Amino acid sequence: MKRVIAVANQKGGVGKTTTAVNLAASLAATRRRVLLMDLDPQGNATMGSGIDKSQLARSALEVLLGEAELASALCPVEHGGYTLLPANQDLTSAEVRLLTQTIGRETRLRRAIEPVRSAYDVILVDCPPALNMLTVNALVAADSVLIPMQCEYYALEGLSALLGTVEQIRLAANPPLEIEGILRTMFDPRNNLANEVSAQLLMHFGDKVFRTVIPRNIRLAEAPSFGRPVLFHDKESRGALAYLALAGEMIRREEEALKSAHTAVGGSVPPEAAPGGSPGGTTAADPGGDDSAEPRRAIDAAAGGGTS
Ligand SMILES: Nc1ncnc2c1ncn2[C@@H]1O[C@H](COP(=O)(O)OP(=O)(O)O)[C@@H](O)[C@H]1O
Ligand SMILES: [Mg+2]
Repeated sequence: MKRVIAVANQKGGVGKTTTAVNLAASLAATRRRVLLMDLDPQGNATMGSGIDKSQLARSALEVLLGEAELASALCPVEHGGYTLLPANQDLTSAEVRLLTQTIGRETRLRRAIEPVRSAYDVILVDCPPALNMLTVNALVAADSVLIPMQCEYYALEGLSALLGTVEQIRLAANPPLEIEGILRTMFDPRNNLANEVSAQLLMHFGDKVFRTVIPRNIRLAEAPSFGRPVLFHDKESRGALAYLALAGEMIRREEEALKSAHTAVGGSVPPEAAPGGSPGGTTAADPGGDDSAEPRRAIDAAAGGGTS
C-alpha cells in the first residue's frame, strides 16, 4: 500500500467516492492515520463525511491555488476517524484557473501535500469523473492509483483510456506511479456480463485486480445521506464488511511486499512480489477462444501500456 493513493476513473457513478470514504474509515479503524482529499467539485466525499460543503471556510480550491496551506483547510471527521480536505463547486474555478497557468499547474497538489505527507500513513484522493487538470494533479501527486470499476461492457474502454493517461503521467511527470489495484464495485454475481467482464479482468490484470469484491449493497448507498461512512451507519452490513476486507487486503499485500523486499536483500525474489514491480503492465498471454472480442481488445490495449 502506497502513501498517496488516487482513487480515479473518468467515468461517473462507478463507486470512486463510496470507495474513498469507506476505505478511509476502514483504514482509520485499523488505527492508521488517514487523510481523505476531496478533489471533486461535486463535494460528495465532503458531504458523505458529514461536513457541510456550503459552509467551508477553506477548501481544496485555496489549497490548489496556493492561497492556503493544506493544514489550514483540514477538518476532523468525527464519525469516520480520519481527516478531510473538503471541496465544493468553487473547485471548478480552480480547474479553470489552473488551465490558464503555464508553470507548475500539474504539481500544485503534490507541493501542497509535501509538508503533511509524513503526518499520515495513507492519503486518499477522491478524483472527479474526468481526466481533467484536477485528476492530473492527483495522479502527479500520487504514489499509486486505485481504480474502482463496475463490471460492465463499456467499463473496459474507459479503463484503457485511464491506463493510457496513467502511462503518460508516468512518462512525463511521475515515473514511480503504480497501479494500486482495480476494484470491482457494485458487483452482482447474478449478472452474466458482470461475471464475464470480471473473469477477463482477472485474466489480463492478474494480481492487479483486488480479490475483494464490493457487492451492490443498499447500506452503502444510503450511508451518505446520514453523512457517515457505512462503518458508522451499519457496521454489520455486507458493504461495511467488504470495505473492511479491502483495507485488510491492502495491508496484507503491503506486509507481503515488505517481507519479500527483505528477502530480496539476501537473494532473489519474483519481480511481481517486489514493491514497484510491473506497474499496470501485467500483460497476460492472450488466452483466445472466447466470444467477446470487443472488451478483450480494450483490455489488450490497456494492458499493453496504452501509450496513446
Ligand atoms: N456497492 C454499492 N452498492 C450500492 N450502491 C452503491 C455502491 N457503490 C456506490 N453506490 C452508489 O452509486 C452511486 C455512485 O457512486 P459514487 O461512489 O458516488 O461514484 P463516483 O464517485 O464514481 O461518481 C452513489 O449513489 C452511491 O451511493
Ligand atoms: Mg464521486
